[in-house]
Amino acid sequence: MRKKIAAANWKMNLTYAQANELLDNLFSKKYSLSENQQVVIAVPAPYLHLAKEKTQGKNQVFISAQNIYTKKSGAYTGEISVEMLQSMGIEHTIIGHSERRDYFNESNEFLKEKVDICLENHITPIFCCGEALEVREQNKQNQFVAKQIEESLFHLSSTDIQKVVIAYEPIWAIGTGKTATSEQAQEIQQFIRQLIANKYDAATADAVSILYGGSVKANNAKELFSQPDIDGGLVGGASLNAEEFAAIINALA
Ligand code: G3P
Repeated sequence: MRKKIAAANWKMNLTYAQANELLDNLFSKKYSLSENQQVVIAVPAPYLHLAKEKTQGKNQVFISAQNIYTKKSGAYTGEISVEMLQSMGIEHTIIGHSERRDYFNESNEFLKEKVDICLENHITPIFCCGEALEVREQNKQNQFVAKQIEESLFHLSSTDIQKVVIAYEPIWAIGTGKTATSEQAQEIQQFIRQLIANKYDAATADAVSILYGGSVKANNAKELFSQPDIDGGLVGGASLNAEEFAAIINALA
């Protein structure tokens, strides 16, 4: 049974004190989560929050990272390694967010290396994919997303790809308040699952959690998460507010 996940992407927000307050608030709440549901909280660079309380067991709230480098260690100023994350008990990291692809020129090939070093070190990659508005307007989103997945993930074995969480994030919905409709999100996420089934097999495809990201809010989460191929959300702005993100978590139930 694939996991239902609500993941927060705080991006580059929150001071140390603000993050403490938000985490304390999230940890203090009771969520209607079942055993196959998981809440992952991704913290912003420069990772100053990674040393905080890691998990709140019964609520399965985890601290995670937003990025890692492709090398185990060395002269890479400003970067952080999977070994450093592992040494702090971090188990998840976002890989390939559109903002990193755009601002830091992270290619599908480069992200393939990041996925590999995560899996080699037992860190779960939350692999982001998604098209820009002009690609959607040309109705070429399926081909675009398929290329991202094929070039960064399809070298993996069936066993290993099941360890990857995929997050479909249409760039035109990120931070815009213009959420994809549940039909649009379901259609492409069903396409992604079928792509995996065609490459591997139906059981492998069925085991992969595929999240939606792009203006997920408390008032649209339930409809989005009710779709058969939407296994939760990767949430930006709304995750900075404890009440809003708690409502999104409960929409998983
Ligand atoms: O990674 C999630 C993020 O890109 C979505 O941002 O603010 O549209 O929820 P937002």
